[in-house]
Amino acid sequence: MRIVLLGPQGAGKGTQAQRISERTGARHISTGDLVRAEIKSGSELGETIKDYNDRGELVPDEIIIQMMRPYLDEADSWILDGFPRNESQAEALDEMLREIAAKLDAAVALEAPDEALIRRLSGRRTSEATGRIYHVEHDPPPQSSEEDPGPFIQRKDDTEEALRRRLRIYHEHTEPLKDYYAERGILATIDATQRIPDVTEGVLEAVGEKA
Ligand code: AP5
Repeated sequence: MRIVLLGPQGAGKGTQAQRISERTGARHISTGDLVRAEIKSGSELGETIKDYNDRGELVPDEIIIQMMRPYLDEADSWILDGFPRNESQAEALDEMLREIAAKLDAAVALEAPDEALIRRLSGRRTSEATGRIYHVEHDPPPQSSEEDPGPFIQRKDDTEEALRRRLRIYHEHTEPLKDYYAERGILATIDATQRIPDVTEGVLEAVGEKA
C-alpha cells in the first residue's frame, strides 16, 4: 500500500495514518513529525527550520524532500502524512516513485470546514513519550501511565494566528493537489467531520477501491 493523505490542518491526517498503520502494517511517514524531531534534536538544520514551523509556514521544498526521501526508500508500504504540500513536492514524489519503480495507489483527501478545524485543534494533545495524538474531548489521553506516560502537550504551532496562516497556505498551495491526483484517477475524498473510526473505514474502503 502506498498512499498520500491530503487535508487541512486538523482534518485528522496524523490520527488516521496512525490507525491505518496499526491496521495494515504500512509505515506512517509524517513530514511534520520529522520536522519536530529535527527541531527537538537541537541540530543546525533544526535551528534553520524552527521558525518556519512555529510561524506555520512551509519548510523549503529541498529541505523537506531531503529529510523524507530515506524513509520512502526503506519501506515498500507507506502512508504519507503531510507530503506533498504543493505541486513541486508532488512532482518530486512522482520522480522518486519512478526511481524506485513504484506507483502510488491513492491520494485520499480528508475534508472539513476551517472553523470546525480551528475549534478541533484547540483540544489536540500529543504525547511527548510516544508521539501519539489525542483530543481532550473526542479521544482523551489514557489515565494509566503504563499505556502512555505522556506528558500530553499542545503544539507550538496550534495558536490561532499560526493556524489561520497554515490554513491559508493549505488552500492556496496544497488544495490544488486534489486536481493533480484527480487527473491521474487516484483521488478519493472523505468527509473528515465523521467520527474517527468511521473516517478510518472510509479511507480503507477508498484505498481498496483505487488500488
Ligand atoms: P504537520 O505536522 O504536517 O501539520 P499540519 O499539516 O498542519 O497538520 P496537523 O498535524 O495540524 O493536522 P492533522 O490533519 O494531522 O490532524 P490530527 O490527526 O493531529 O506540519 C507541521 C509543520 O511542519 C508545517 O506547518 C510546516 O512548517 C512543516 N512541514 C510539514 N510537512 C511539510 C512539507 N511537506 N513541506 C513543507 N513544510 C512541511 O488531528 C487533529 C486533532 O483532531 C487531534 O486532537 C485529533 O485527536 C482530533 N481528531 C482527528 N480526527 C477527528 C475526528 N474525525 N473527529 C474529532 N476529532 C478528531
